[in-house]
Amino acid sequence: MYEFEKEIAERHSVRSYLKKPIEPQTAAEMRAYIEEINSESGLSIQLIENDPETFTKNLLHYGWIKNAENYFALIGKTAPDLEEAAGYWGEKCVLKAQALGLNTCWIAGTYSKKHVKAEIKDGEELVCVISVGYGENAGKERKSKTEKEVTENAGGAPEWFSRGVKAALLAPTAINQQKFTLSFLAPDKVRLTAQKGPFSLIDKGIVKLHFELAAGRDNFRWE
Ligand SMILES: Cc1cc2nc3c(=O)[nH]c(=O)nc-3n(C[C@H](O)[C@H](O)[C@H](O)COP(=O)(O)O)c2cc1C
Repeated sequence: MYEFEKEIAERHSVRSYLKKPIEPQTAAEMRAYIEEINSESGLSIQLIENDPETFTKNLLHYGWIKNAENYFALIGKTAPDLEEAAGYWGEKCVLKAQALGLNTCWIAGTYSKKHVKAEIKDGEELVCVISVGYGENAGKERKSKTEKEVTENAGGAPEWFSRGVKAALLAPTAINQQKFTLSFLAPDKVRLTAQKGPFSLIDKGIVKLHFELAAGRDNFRWE
């Protein structure tokens, strides 16, 4: 078993939640985890609870998400790699939340940015949010590209490569676009490229985390 293997397999986007606040003990564990992530990454991720406005004040998408009242606000200093970092570290929060019995959905479009209640300091920006709470259900499986469609030079690659690709295919991506390619470069390098698409740099960070967790960080180096 690798870290978060079960959570990677069981996570699906959940857009309908129960009207039930996050248990205080669970929220405390989540906040402690976010604190660790922020000190390691330099990001300023925040858990905001009991704020329905962020998901109901977007008139274009009113009703898109049901009873979503809590979210992770992914915030960091403006930088060229901010979106990828938000993807990578945000997905760690997603998997931790899943481990704590919560459900999530990455939200970069169907919310009201100006109603987000997080603190954004000078020089920082909000990348997107992730709704979090107790789902009406655990979500469902969706269509996926095949390993072949998202890899290059995979023939002859070690077993860890295919394990990483399988986890990468379970990663959430905007509109399920899965616009990425993982190339095996013998003997132990991997290149991850993101094709152009909405929010595909955020996707890239998410995919990177899933691949790393499953392939094992000691087995390879990113090119
Ligand atoms: C960067 C990013 C942005 C997303 N933005 C939205 C959004 O604005 N609204 C929404 O309903 N879902 C959004 N999603 C959720 C995706 O539609 C969902 O992850 C994808 O369809 C795959 O399904 P899964 O998460 O169940 O694996 C987003 C996902 C990602 C990774």
